[in-house]
Amino acid sequence: MKKLFKNARVIDPSQGIDDILDILIEGEKIAGIGKNLTSFDAEIEDLTGKIITPGLIDMHVHFREPGFEKKEDIKTGMLAAARGGFTAVACMPNTNPPLDNPYLIKYVIDRAKEYDLIKLYPIGCVTKGRMGIELSEIGKMSEQGAVAFSDDGSPIGNSALMKRALLYAKGFDKVIIDHCEDPALSEGGQINEGYMSFKLGLTGIPASAEEIMVARDVILAKETKSKVHIAHISTKGSVEIIRRAKELGVNVTCEVTPHHLILTEDEVEGYNPLAKVNPPLRTSEDVEALIEGLKDGTIDCITSDHAPHTKEEKEMEFEYAPFGISGIETSLGLILDKIVNKGVISLSQMVEKMSLNPAKILNIDGGTLKQGSFADITIIDPYIEWTVKKEEFLSKGKNTPFDGYKLRGKAIRTIVKGKEVYKEVHHESLVGTGRRFDL
Ligand code: DOR
Ligand code: ZN
Repeated sequence: MKKLFKNARVIDPSQGIDDILDILIEGEKIAGIGKNLTSFDAEIEDLTGKIITPGLIDMHVHFREPGFEKKEDIKTGMLAAARGGFTAVACMPNTNPPLDNPYLIKYVIDRAKEYDLIKLYPIGCVTKGRMGIELSEIGKMSEQGAVAFSDDGSPIGNSALMKRALLYAKGFDKVIIDHCEDPALSEGGQINEGYMSFKLGLTGIPASAEEIMVARDVILAKETKSKVHIAHISTKGSVEIIRRAKELGVNVTCEVTPHHLILTEDEVEGYNPLAKVNPPLRTSEDVEALIEGLKDGTIDCITSDHAPHTKEEKEMEFEYAPFGISGIETSLGLILDKIVNKGVISLSQMVEKMSLNPAKILNIDGGTLKQGSFADITIIDPYIEWTVKKEEFLSKGKNTPFDGYKLRGKAIRTIVKGKEVYKEVHHESLVGTGRRFDL
């Protein structure tokens, strides 16, 4: 089976490409990329006005299986990801039971294989049961296919344990992803500590709770000469610490979410649980610093931190509502409309942060359209205007503060190993392609 896409704007920072080109797909692989490609036996499609990128990779999602299937399961998570334009995701291990041993890593990989949709890479726990006391079986989980390690949802509070985790993971060439939060400083916190927490009478989570841990982690990464990746940074101070650490040659990378780039603590006004997320939405000064960090390369990746929850859970009293935003179906649209279209970063930089860098950090396939690589491809229509409608999400989690947003630009097709796993048939109404998409 051959397919020839003609005249698309191809954006592939791995090869320094941003040009109108053709791409030939043969079976699972990219067979050619260039000008005026021809083929006598390929199905030919003209993609004038569309953008082709290497398949997008979201290296921070919560698919909740096993244990919290009411919020999301691997199938609905993968369908939502495909619709969002993602050909691969890395799943956080704060499931029930948590993914802290090789059997559970295998279980998740096998579950994902049942559906033949996108690529799913599990992240294993750093500590047994995510309890922060004893290291988990990092080596055995690596052998079984865990691509990184994290206790996300919680930090690795004990610095000595973090140091050992960094050293141990280094032996397997794996990265530790830390959710930076000093528990003593954030205890009982609901939203950003500042004007809004004072106004609403809620306990705040100070910027220092994040920054102290970011600083600790870069110090430990330097000392142990190992790799650390800081999850969902949210403050100006975190950007400054990581920028400086990179200047000093520390092996640190980091990510930011669309919601931290676009919203501020003002969103929580009226005790809006849909804006309750951890780390919390911060101030406009923080947002500006994050945008600066995105531009100058301090921030390597954009991840959704897709955190689906049930309606019932999110409708509880503000203090009891869980933290999280269901973000995988809005991530690309928000970044295109609010960041790229505003000229903050180029499309090429976006692809770096949403495909190439995640592939590099996790040391997985993807992030490139080089001849011979797997045909993992996202096709974007940069002109489509669409409205976020949470009730139409394929994710079980309808918890988004972006409902009703009108955005310009979205993924219209998602192709994994040459097979289309998602196709938008016409604006606003989205259906799948045959067997691979039966809900
Ligand atoms: O908002 C969040 N939701 N932050 C986290 O750290 C965990 C996540 C979740 O699992 O719901
Ligand atoms: Zn998370």
